[in-house]
Amino acid sequence: MARLNGKICLITGAAQGLGEAMANVLAREQATLILCDINMERLTQTADKINASGGNAIALKLDVTQEEEWQTVEKYIAKEYGHLDVLVNNAGVEVMMSVEETSFKDWRAIQSVNVDGVFLGCKIMLNLLKETGIQTTAGASIINLSSVAGIVGVANLSAYCSSKGAVRNLSKSLAIEFAEGRHNIRVNSIHPGFIQTPMLQDLFTRWAAEGIMGNTLQEVELAAADTQPLGRFGQPEDIAYGVLYLASDEANFVTGSELVIDGAWTAR
Ligand SMILES: NC(=O)c1ccc[n+]([C@@H]2O[C@H](COP(=O)([O-])OP(=O)(O)OC[C@H]3O[C@@H](n4cnc5c(N)ncnc54)[C@H](O)[C@@H]3O)[C@@H](O)[C@H]2O)c1
Repeated sequence: MARLNGKICLITGAAQGLGEAMANVLAREQATLILCDINMERLTQTADKINASGGNAIALKLDVTQEEEWQTVEKYIAKEYGHLDVLVNNAGVEVMMSVEETSFKDWRAIQSVNVDGVFLGCKIMLNLLKETGIQTTAGASIINLSSVAGIVGVANLSAYCSSKGAVRNLSKSLAIEFAEGRHNIRVNSIHPGFIQTPMLQDLFTRWAAEGIMGNTLQEVELAAADTQPLGRFGQPEDIAYGVLYLASDEANFVTGSELVIDGAWTAR
């Protein structure tokens, strides 16, 4: 029996990177996928590939910072399915700069996607998640993508670290609120370390341009991998399998937890 047999799962930021890997892994476990992103060209490709290999995915445009767009997606799910089993708030942006370089506009832009987007998702999807909580024993699951940068501070990454710290504690607060409200909705955060996605690639490209850890992308990648306890980075599937576990009924007593998947980066 598939681990997500027919569960309705919404993933934001599903066009590439971790979100795309999550979509592929959840599809293999027979989830019904609602894939959302602002990059519709790539998102449609992701959904098409899943459908071509026997999965069930729809691509919907959703800018997570826009309340009305969340409401449109909510209406769609309410009409089609009447409930939502799993919400993965994965969309996120990262900008590396010193606090002196960070304008208030930069700061707000990062908080807007990384924190406001997660808040809006949890709030606007709540009635549909509650419905699952009423209808099923195992209940619904919210999975919020934080980061190791939500647990420890990182120089020149204060806006991102602050946003990911907020996601960590928003998740814990909602876990308690929904437990005490007897909504039967679990809320957990995932904290990836350095995972090979376009986001990490962009970061290393900028480092190479600035001569941080090397002058070419390859030099930076090798030097950065060497700073990892395992001597290598994680792959998107490493995070997707964590999402699969938290989405499944196997995790029915797991709420308010932080799942760190970082190859021991924060263990030192
Ligand atoms: N890759 C890593 O090493 C790493 C480490 C820790 C945490 N994370 C977190 O994991 C999540 C996914 O990261 P990734 O590496 O796959 O990033 P990525 O940049 O490769 O992909 C992010 C996706 O989010 C989408 N997106 C951006 N803004 C959006 C918006 N306003 N509305 C909807 N979609 C939007 C992008 O179009 C893209 O498809 C992020 O929240 C990130 O902070 C990543």
